[in-house]
Amino acid sequence: MHATPAAAVTRALRQHRHRRDALVQILRAVQEHTGWLPRPVLAQVAQGLGLTPAVVEGVASFYRFFHLQPVGRYHLLWSDHITDRMRGSRALAQALCARLELAPGQVRADALASVGTTSCTGLADQGPALLVNQHQVLTRMDGERVRQLADLVLGQVPVPDWPAEWMQVDDNIQRADVLLGSPPLRGEALQATVGRGAQATLDALEASRLRGRGGAGFATARKWALCRAAPLAAGATRVVVCNADEGEPGTFKDRVLLQRQADTVFEGMTVAARLLGARQGLMYLRGEYRFLLASLQAVLARRRARGLLGRHILGCAGFDFDIAIHVGAGAYVCGEESALIESLEGKRGTPRIRPPFPVEQGYLGQPTIVNNVETFCAAARIAQHGDAWWSARGTQHSSGTRLHSVSGDCARPGIYEYPLGVSVAQVLHDCGAHATQAVQVGGPSGTCIAAPEFDRRLCFEDLPTAGAFTVFDRSRDMFEVAHSFARFFAHESCGFCTPCRVGTQLVLRRMDKLAAGLGSVWDRAELDGLDALMQGTTHCGLGASSTRALRDTLQRFGPAYARRLRQHSFVPGFDLDAELESARRATGRDDAHAHLEQHE
Ligand SMILES: Cc1cc2nc3c(=O)[nH]c(=O)nc-3n(C[C@H](O)[C@H](O)[C@H](O)COP(=O)(O)O)c2cc1C
Ligand code: SF4
Repeated sequence: MHATPAAAVTRALRQHRHRRDALVQILRAVQEHTGWLPRPVLAQVAQGLGLTPAVVEGVASFYRFFHLQPVGRYHLLWSDHITDRMRGSRALAQALCARLELAPGQVRADALASVGTTSCTGLADQGPALLVNQHQVLTRMDGERVRQLADLVLGQVPVPDWPAEWMQVDDNIQRADVLLGSPPLRGEALQATVGRGAQATLDALEASRLRGRGGAGFATARKWALCRAAPLAAGATRVVVCNADEGEPGTFKDRVLLQRQADTVFEGMTVAARLLGARQGLMYLRGEYRFLLASLQAVLARRRARGLLGRHILGCAGFDFDIAIHVGAGAYVCGEESALIESLEGKRGTPRIRPPFPVEQGYLGQPTIVNNVETFCAAARIAQHGDAWWSARGTQHSSGTRLHSVSGDCARPGIYEYPLGVSVAQVLHDCGAHATQAVQVGGPSGTCIAAPEFDRRLCFEDLPTAGAFTVFDRSRDMFEVAHSFARFFAHESCGFCTPCRVGTQLVLRRMDKLAAGLGSVWDRAELDGLDALMQGTTHCGLGASSTRALRDTLQRFGPAYARRLRQHSFVPGFDLDAELESARRATGRDDAHAHLEQHE
């Protein structure tokens, strides 16, 4: 039987011991019962936490997956990444809306269903993908599945009874090396760490030259050493955070590591805890990966039972450490480490002003390391095998292997693990790409390269990457690719700083204008100006990287823009006279003087 909204709130508050920093988790738990978050529910949560309703509403309104208005009992969100679109997601979404007799973004009159879009769901190798009630994913949607899906919804069939093969999420591991090709770690790296000692293991990590896999490439040993050296207040602990937000569109490598190597990820976090003397671990799992939660919890439970988590780990007195999983609620910016910490503390995911850096004052003011899923896997393997084993792979400045999430126009999309330094051409050959026009390396915030550059190498000293490798063949319109990325950034800007909040919208509007055939050379100059303006003026990396694809495609695929700059003189981006129509109606005027264009 379903709990009443009030009972659901009471239970969620009790489950999280009325902790204010659990607000996001409390809202998630409540919404799983209530479907959306009506004002009285938010007020009850506020009262239970001793917060004002405005604070709770401010947090709820920040996250895409919290609904302050009703949604359908079946809430269906199409993944709206460029690779989903390339596989026809737009037409499929329209077909679904038609069959369910509703408009996109609206709730059916009987509240049965609503259909919308969301950013990439981390399934670019098996799209078009659909997220159901922010809980379950459906992969490889096609016309037939859409027809059947509509019938299941109209027949009110419960989601767990839908065809299991629709919910199948394949690993698609196409090339494995030392990270994916080895069995998951169940204490081996921890044993080695305890045997070698904390300082010697930290030294090995430094000698391995491991750099973070989340994008920025910060030296892992340095980050951990800074955290270890940070002063600790009485009663506080150092904190180990795993960034499993994986929000960069086109990236899905962390999903595969969490499916295949969850033990290794948690082992890496526990190795870090041993080196730092940390007692608390947190994994920030992106909301779109909610379907992985039960299996991850099971791995944690097994590790506790084996003495690999909890008190006196491996029988070592004082080695106490445990890990909790925090599920995100749909906000790309929460992958940025300080925004992620804000979100962990139950707040809006607004990036912090630094210094202080998280290694000094992070989660609840305590020294905190935030590392990517893959970084923890690599660190665990280094603790197990030593630095020479790791640094024998890769290049001088980029040691070891790394995972690439390959998708787009290729015969074999999936995960490819290579030593760092592999050429783009090699990856294209291995994944069966033909007539390739461009590769987007590292997702929308990364680098777009054209065919003459395919001998470039994927490593920190040439083409750094956060893990996505998206292939576009010659049939693709690179303006449309950049346009879709502009839409993504305008949607994901958190709105905290003006250059990004306004700049991403202005870029999108210009690109909409070009797409509508209203562009001229003035618009091109305006786009260049916006790109220049946003460099160095935004508060965090989201704004700074939001025009990279625009810049790269303007430089490399000029004709895709040139054919849209058809107007000889400047054309306004919108019809001001038409915009004033509602004001004219309100004032009851429709004479010539009420129009901008005066007729003689
Ligand atoms: C807008 C934005 C989104 C980010 N998203 C992620 C993410 O999803 N996963 C991730 O590991 N790092 C992400 N990062 C980078 C993190 O801020 C941080 O550098 C990283 O988690 C550090 O881990 P590493 O040292 O292991 O790379 C993002 C950064 C920015 C600016
Ligand atoms: S750059 Fe964008 S995402 Fe980052 S703080 Fe500013 S508005 Fe928010």
